[in-house]
Amino acid sequence: MSKRVLSGYRPSGTLHLGHLHGNLENMINLQEKYECFFFVADWHALTTEYEKPFQIPQYIEDMILDWLAFGLDPKKCTLYRQSSCPEIAELALYFGMITPLPWLERCTTYKEQLRELKGRELATYGFLGYPVLMAADILVVRSELVPVGEDQVPHLELTREIARRFNYLYGNYFPEPQALLSGAKRVPGIDGRKMSKSYGNAIYLNESPNIIKEKVRSMITDPQRVYLKDPGHPEVCSVFSLHQIYSHSLIEEIEKGCREALRGCTECKDILAQNISDYLAPFQSKRKELEKEKGLVEEILTKGAQSVKPLMAETLAQVRKLISLEK
Ligand code: TRP
Ligand code: SF4
Repeated sequence: MSKRVLSGYRPSGTLHLGHLHGNLENMINLQEKYECFFFVADWHALTTEYEKPFQIPQYIEDMILDWLAFGLDPKKCTLYRQSSCPEIAELALYFGMITPLPWLERCTTYKEQLRELKGRELATYGFLGYPVLMAADILVVRSELVPVGEDQVPHLELTREIARRFNYLYGNYFPEPQALLSGAKRVPGIDGRKMSKSYGNAIYLNESPNIIKEKVRSMITDPQRVYLKDPGHPEVCSVFSLHQIYSHSLIEEIEKGCREALRGCTECKDILAQNISDYLAPFQSKRKELEKEKGLVEEILTKGAQSVKPLMAETLAQVRKLISLEK
């Protein structure tokens, strides 16, 4: 039996190139090798979006359609929505009993987010308890591997601590899940920072060739290259970082064109924009076809939730016994 892999994704609407090369490609590879559970973390979204939850359903729809268009296959992995699984909430409740407050308060991601998302009232029980809910997500299916980004490693460490504490108090039951760090590429956004929806620097998977061209043209290049005759330094240029993903077959020529000042930045950018658009085109038409199938996403998520249900129910039955709530 292959190992179990689980990961959750906040519903973020239409995905961008950073999501594609950061998670989605990885998920598509994992579904071939492991027993995979990929779920929509809509309760997690509520921890920060509880004042405006109204867009979450559309975000879910868009994210799942992108997943499918790029090749995630519900026959090979289990896709479900967190809020369809009350077992997760029940397990989080038990974990809440045994998780000391200081574990949550010292969590670096918690402190960081409080700082970054200021303007929102986040001094809530739910927000502080985010890692407890995450531990329940993972341990309810007794997953052994969790593909996460660097930023989620402290959360996963907390999951391991919660599993250990549960095992110590009530008997050895949960595995301690390991992080599966993907070789995710860092995708720069159009301002050179990491591509992110919240920075407003993203190129989206559904974007038209014209918009892509416009966005790429606005990118900052090597600041030392003022005139066409100035030789450039591709290693400091985000346009070149993207070329490394989308212009594989001509990467040497692009590099030479820059270093030897054979090609101007505008032309170099237009080549990149064209390659990104060509790369996205088949997925965009696949996505359009999927959009026409009304109710598709709902059906996939419902089936997925039905198929994990027995596994989750088994965990909860065991947990209730171990805590002496049931015989
Ligand atoms: N916390 C993750 C994020 O913000 C999402 C998430 C929720 C998750 N539950 C999870 C990831 C369980 C891995 C495993 O991106
Ligand atoms: Fe960047 Fe291309 Fe200009 Fe070189 S030629 S600085 S790689 S945009």
